[in-house]
Amino acid sequence: MSARKILVTSALPYANGAIHLGHLVEYIQTDIWVRFQKLRGQECWYVCADDTHGTPIMLRAEQEGITPEALIARVHGEHLRDFTGFHIAFDNYYTTHSDETRFYSEDIYRKLKAAGLIEVRAIEQFYDPVKEMFLPDRFIKGECPKCGAKDQYGDSCEACGAAYAPTELKNPYSAVSGAQPVLKSSDHYFFKLSDPRCQQFLREWTRQGSLQPEAANKLAEWLGEEGEHRLTDWDISRDAPYFGFEIPDAPGKYFYVWLDAPIGYMGSFKNLCAKQGLDFDEYWKPDSQAELYHFIGKDILYFHALFWPAELKFAGYRTPTNVFAHGFLTVDGAKMSKSRGTFITAESYLKQGLNPEWLRYYFAAKLNGTMEDIDLNLEDFVARVNSDLVGKYINIASRAAGFITKRFGGKLLAMPLAEKFASVLPGLSEAAEEIAAHYEARDFARAMRKIMALADQVNQYVDLHKPWELAKQAGRDAELHEVSSILINAFRLLTIYLKPVLPKLAQRAEEFLNVAPLHWRDAAHLLPPAHAINAYEHLMTRIEMKQIEALLAANKESLAPGAVPPAPTSDPQSPQRHAERQQNSEYKLHNQITIDEFAKVDLRIARIVDAAHVEGAEKLIMLTLDLGPLGTRQVFAGIKSAYDPATLVGRLTVMVANLAPRKMKFGVSEGMVLAASDPEGKTAGLYLLSPDAGATPGMQVK
Ligand code: 2FM
Ligand code: ZN
Repeated sequence: MSARKILVTSALPYANGAIHLGHLVEYIQTDIWVRFQKLRGQECWYVCADDTHGTPIMLRAEQEGITPEALIARVHGEHLRDFTGFHIAFDNYYTTHSDETRFYSEDIYRKLKAAGLIEVRAIEQFYDPVKEMFLPDRFIKGECPKCGAKDQYGDSCEACGAAYAPTELKNPYSAVSGAQPVLKSSDHYFFKLSDPRCQQFLREWTRQGSLQPEAANKLAEWLGEEGEHRLTDWDISRDAPYFGFEIPDAPGKYFYVWLDAPIGYMGSFKNLCAKQGLDFDEYWKPDSQAELYHFIGKDILYFHALFWPAELKFAGYRTPTNVFAHGFLTVDGAKMSKSRGTFITAESYLKQGLNPEWLRYYFAAKLNGTMEDIDLNLEDFVARVNSDLVGKYINIASRAAGFITKRFGGKLLAMPLAEKFASVLPGLSEAAEEIAAHYEARDFARAMRKIMALADQVNQYVDLHKPWELAKQAGRDAELHEVSSILINAFRLLTIYLKPVLPKLAQRAEEFLNVAPLHWRDAAHLLPPAHAINAYEHLMTRIEMKQIEALLAANKESLAPGAVPPAPTSDPQSPQRHAERQQNSEYKLHNQITIDEFAKVDLRIARIVDAAHVEGAEKLIMLTLDLGPLGTRQVFAGIKSAYDPATLVGRLTVMVANLAPRKMKFGVSEGMVLAASDPEGKTAGLYLLSPDAGATPGMQVK
C-alpha cells in the first residue's frame, strides 16, 4: 500500500504572548498524531507559524517601543524554544508575516473578487480621535447597557454576561487613549458568505460525515435549516493604522488578521516545499488526493469550518479533509488563574526542571478526540505519571535489564522466543492494530488505557516469576534468562506503542535496547535471539508533589484587587472579536515598603478650583488646587486624554503635597494628583481619585 500524503496544522499562536499549558494541549495532541502517522510510514507534514498581524500586536510593539517586526521576531524565537522543549516536532514553524502568506492572501482575495464574492460597503465604527484609529471591540470600554456595570469591554459584560455591540455601551471610552470614541464611517471589504453559493457549498461540506458530532451540530445551528440564510458577510478589512498586508488596489485598507491567519498554513507549507522539494499543488489543488487536517480549539471552529472552506472552495483550492476541535484546559477543575499560579507557562514548566514527557503522557491519557474540556488535576497528574510510566512501564525494563547485563553478558536468550512470548503474554504483539486505531481516531486516552492494561499484564508476569528470586536460586539460570528476555521484549513493544507520546524516552529506550529507531511495523516481530542490549540507565524519575508546588509558586502573580483583566470572549459566533482576545497586562506589585517609608508621602485632599488646557501640550491639563489652610498649588496633570477641563472644576481629589516642585516645559508643577490606570499606562482609562462626602481641602490622607 502506498503511503498516505497528509498535511497537518495546529492553530497559529499570536505573536504577542507566551505559550502556556492551555496552548500545549493542542500542540501536544497534534504532535502525537503526526508522530503516530510518521511511525506508521505515512508521508505526513506538520506545519505551523506565528500569527503576527493585527491591532494588539501593533499596540504591543508600540508599548514596548519597538517595531512590530522586532516584536514578532523575538516572540518567534520564544515560541519555537518552548515548542522544542516539549518535543513538538514541526516540519516547519514559520510566520504569517511572510512573502508566501502575502502571495496567497492576495491570490485568494483576487480570485474571490473575480468570483463576485467581495463587496465594499461603508460601515460606521468607533474611532479614537486622539489615537486616530478605529477601535476593535476589545479596545472600547464603557458601562454595560444592560446592568450598568462599569468598565466593560465593547462586546460583552463580565458582570451580567450580556452580549452587545460596542455602540450600545454607555459612556464609552477608548482603552487605548482613554478618549471618548466617535462614530466614523469608512469603506470595508466583505467576503460574501451570505451568497447562496457559499451557503449551499457549506451545507454540503459540513454534511460530509466525518466531522466530530459536536462540531457538526454547531455548524448545523450556524447554517440553519435548508432554505434559511443565516450566514452574514464577513468583514475582512481594517483601516490603517494596522499591522498586516495592505489589500491590493485599496490603499490604506489591510486584510483583517483572521483573513491571512489560516492562509498562513499555506504560506508555511509553501516555504517547506521550497526546503524539501515538495509539490505544493499536489497538496492544495482542488482534486488533491492528499489529506489536510486542522487541529484547533473549539472557540475557532467558525473560522475553520465556515470561512476557511468557503474561501478555499471559491478561490479554486482544495478544502480541508477534516477539522479536529478540542476543548479547553482547566487546572484542578477551574480556569487557569494567575493568582492561583495555575496559568502555567511552558517556559516556567521547563525552567522548573519538570519533564515535558510527564505532561505529554498526562494530556494523552485525557485526550479522547472530542470537544470536551480536559482537566489537569495536579494530584492526579503526579499519581498517574508515577504509577503508569515509572511504576508500570519503566519498571519492566529496570526489573530485567540488570540480570541480562550481569548474568548473561548483555545478551538475550539465544533461542527463538516468539511462541513462548505469545503464550505467556497473549495479545501483546497483536494489540498493535487496536492501539493504532485508537491513535488514528485521536482517542489517545483509550490507547493509553490499552497500553497500561498490557503493562499490567507484563507486571503480573514479573510478579508470578519473581526474577529476583530466580536469581538467588541455583540451577535456575535458564529460566531467569528466559523471563528476563521476555520482559525486555515486552518493554520494547510497549516502547513502540508509547513512542508517539514519549519520543525522547523512546529514543533513550532504543539506545538501551541497542536497536535502530523503532517503527510501528516492528511490533510484528521480537528482538532476534541472542540480541545484545546495552547497560540500563534509569529512564525516568518520579514526580514529587513539591515540584508541582514550586511550579505554582513560580507562576503565582500578586494581583491588585479587581485588577484581573477579564478573560476575552470566545463566542465562536463573534469571530470578528476573536483576534482581539489576547490582551495581556502585567499587574505586578511594586517592592514592599515600610510604614515609615509610606509616611513620608504627604497626601492631601485638594479642590480643583481651575483647570485649563496647556497650549502645545498633548497630554497635560493645568490644575489649580486649593489645599485649604495650606494655600493653592499649580499642578500639571497628564489626564487630558480622559478629562475635559470644564468637568473638573469644583471637584475634590487627592494630591501628593510634598513632592519637590518640578520645572516642566510649560511651567513649574507643585505636586501630583492621584489617578488610577492600567499598570501599563496606555491600554485603559484614567480615573482621578475622589474622597467620600465630608472631606475638605487640606485634610491629610493616611
Ligand atoms: O485564536 C488564535 O490564537 C489564533 N491566533 C489562531 C489562528 S489559527 C489559524 F487560522 F491561523
Ligand atoms: Zn452587564
